[in-house]
Amino acid sequence: MIRTQATDDARRTGWTRRRLLRSLTVGTGIASLPFEWRSAIAEGPPDVDIRLVAAPDRVSIGRGSGTDVLRFTAEVVGGRADAVRPSTGYLGPTLDLRRGERVRVEFVNRLDDPSIVHWHGMIVPARDDGHPRFAVAPGHSYVYDFTVRNPAGTYLYHPHPHGHTGRQIYFGLAGLLIVRDDDEEAVGLPQRGQELSLVIQDRRVGNDNQMVFKRTMMDTMTGVLGDTVLVNGVADAAFNVAPRTHRLRLANVSNARIYKLAWSDGRPMHAIARDSGLFDRSEGMQTRPYIVLAPFQRVELLEDFGVPKKSHKVVLVSRSFDDPGGMAGMMREMMGGGMMGGAMMGDAQGKELSVASFTVAAGSPTKNDPPTFPEPAQPARKGGNELHTRLAFNMMQGSLNGRLFEMDAVAADERLPLDEETIWTFSNDTGGMAMPHPMHIHGVRFRVIERSTGAPVDLREGLIDAGYQDTVLVFPGERVRLAVAPSEPGMFMYHCHNLEHEDGGMMRNCWFGPGPVRST
Ligand code: C2O
Ligand code: CU
Ligand code: CU
Repeated sequence: MIRTQATDDARRTGWTRRRLLRSLTVGTGIASLPFEWRSAIAEGPPDVDIRLVAAPDRVSIGRGSGTDVLRFTAEVVGGRADAVRPSTGYLGPTLDLRRGERVRVEFVNRLDDPSIVHWHGMIVPARDDGHPRFAVAPGHSYVYDFTVRNPAGTYLYHPHPHGHTGRQIYFGLAGLLIVRDDDEEAVGLPQRGQELSLVIQDRRVGNDNQMVFKRTMMDTMTGVLGDTVLVNGVADAAFNVAPRTHRLRLANVSNARIYKLAWSDGRPMHAIARDSGLFDRSEGMQTRPYIVLAPFQRVELLEDFGVPKKSHKVVLVSRSFDDPGGMAGMMREMMGGGMMGGAMMGDAQGKELSVASFTVAAGSPTKNDPPTFPEPAQPARKGGNELHTRLAFNMMQGSLNGRLFEMDAVAADERLPLDEETIWTFSNDTGGMAMPHPMHIHGVRFRVIERSTGAPVDLREGLIDAGYQDTVLVFPGERVRLAVAPSEPGMFMYHCHNLEHEDGGMMRNCWFGPGPVRST
């Protein structure tokens, strides 16, 4: 009966669910509402109701005959019909959501292994976060129900079952999750027709056009590296663009490859957003000669294809750089020629690669006004809490403060208070095998507040530590300090997003807020 009454109350006070949701912002959110109101909100149909299926499939990845893949398909079974947009190749469809919307997703596992879906970068309740303890067996499903609280930005979804994540993503299970909101619309960015998304992945494709996911000792160490770049699930990606400013959303969804993204003609790159939303007015456009993008990081660019150039074609490339995990890379190369056979080993980290080409159509260029970046977000309350996590790689396995993943365990140094700032330091300078680790934290977006000078010289100029991130690359010999202020209570996780490191156990739970939990 409480429910009916709450709905009546909401009606009497003139609050519709929609209006209420629109007023919620990251940092306050649904949890701060009285219980009765919360249940009133969760009542009734969601704004978007999606059925998301993971299953084996056979698709064209752009060259030759069909390739065996694992693939997400999705349909809107209720609510806003354009919330799911089709994709190419093996890539999962794009989920196109608006901030404030309540989204229900029924995930159906038609794979041969357990699985669960994680909304990478999204701040959702712990039960909707896709923690591996929620993995469902083949033939079963899991229902998510959450409200989109993130600011407009480029996010991802992918499987997260412990030990199977690398393989499932490699064979195709991943997709984009785009969030839009009114604030972003006020910025004056290029219209939807001038918006392109590029999900960048490297794969080993054999002569039979099948993908090879070989777990050699080297793969376990460096992560799986491929020699073919796929963009949005197809090889040899080529875009035709109008002579005007485009918004390019770039996402690195590779198991282990770091890209040094640059334009082939040497023009600079203009970034407007990082993992989690636009830069603010104090940061503005971030211009770099090239941009370093680690696994599962995103960056958004503005590129004016209307500026006259010598050629009508420009290529997005990944420039060569020295493998920051030099020792492991050397071992890979030594073994590559021998027992494994070159091609099956994939390529070295830091190899020059072509990502996608852009051909500019003829016609008179259209000028866009420069964007007006939003005001800085309200900073979180200062807390004085500090956490320190040592990243290490020994005996073929990465660890976090000397620990490996345990399904239910949280240690004392893995607890963060809610709604106030914790300074969390990741240090990659305490021995073991030198290796770069892209560190990711679930359920939050953080700021990089300090980076020691460990980044290699040939990558340093391409780092962007402005804006909000959920994944940060920590180079060997380096310490990175983050400001983190979780707002959703309960058990989340943090891990290296090199998928082979993650599956190998370089992953731990973290706990936000007070609460009973088994400690180690
Ligand atoms: Cu992108 Cu724990 O995940
Ligand atoms: Cu995540
Ligand atoms: Cu790692």
